[in-house]
Amino acid sequence: MTTAAISTTPPPRLPHLLDIASLDEHDVHTLISLCHHFERHGPTPLLTGKTVAILFFEASTRTRVSFELALRRLGAEVVIIQGAGSSATKGETLQDTMLTLAAMDVDAIILRHPESGTAAELARTAPDGMAIINAGDGAHEHPSQALIDAYTLHSAGIGIPGSILTIVGDLRHSRVARSNIALWHLLGAAEIRIAGPAAFLPEQLPPGPVKVFTRFDDALPDSDAIMMLRIQRERMSGINLPDRSTYHNEWGLSPQRLQLTPAHCRVLHPGPLNRGVEIDSSVADGDRSLIIHQVRSGVYMRMAILVSVLLASTDLPLADSR
Ligand code: NCD
Repeated sequence: MTTAAISTTPPPRLPHLLDIASLDEHDVHTLISLCHHFERHGPTPLLTGKTVAILFFEASTRTRVSFELALRRLGAEVVIIQGAGSSATKGETLQDTMLTLAAMDVDAIILRHPESGTAAELARTAPDGMAIINAGDGAHEHPSQALIDAYTLHSAGIGIPGSILTIVGDLRHSRVARSNIALWHLLGAAEIRIAGPAAFLPEQLPPGPVKVFTRFDDALPDSDAIMMLRIQRERMSGINLPDRSTYHNEWGLSPQRLQLTPAHCRVLHPGPLNRGVEIDSSVADGDRSLIIHQVRSGVYMRMAILVSVLLASTDLPLADSR
């Protein structure tokens, strides 16, 4: 009779990263601590021997590059598959692509896909030991971006608990907005202000202390941070889009509007930016902007996410790991 070996290795801290709802506050604080650790200590070969596929069915610069750099800086092997260049174009299902990658000992898939829910669907049927990281699924969620934004605010001295956070623009089609609002609520923001033209507001109000503003200027006083969003033309149909200058006049963050906020208020934007539309160049590049910090933190937070899904919780470089 053979006795199955009983593994004593504790599971990874997170099995997958699909959405903010799967995280609790402790998870988020651990990710923030890990991110800080990687920012301070730089590259470390914690993921030597691991292989990760980056499978993107949509355009991306910062998300794709920062995941790739994070993997390289952790010593992992990386395969990059563009949806357009994969067997998906020959009718292969995503599930079969995953099983193909698993057969080649790929340990995780970082997925970007135009349809909401795709990452969770893949995770439901993932073989043991295969982690799925959602790098943006349709208008649903983009959890790694929200974690980066929380870390950026934290590093700039803006604590989310008790603060007033404002998000402006095309919220309806924004997975970044959805993930950030969920995370701000989880971390105890006092007020979450959402502002934009009616056609760009969410169809259903997200849970949390959310207040809707239909005039930009009304949302600005007392805001501790403002996140601007691009009009996501590729994710909408049947909406009459305002022209650039009308939109800019009503919903663009100009230096004059920034003056309506308290002096400590900081500006965020997940990118890509449409300068002169939702944000003026002088604001994007000004000293209240955290946009470049968001991009920089992207690599460290993605290192934190990768070790959390790929390593046993006891192997994380933190004293407080469970
Ligand atoms: C966003 C995205 O792709 O969801 N960008 C990003 O990943 N940082 C935002 C957008 O597309 O406007």
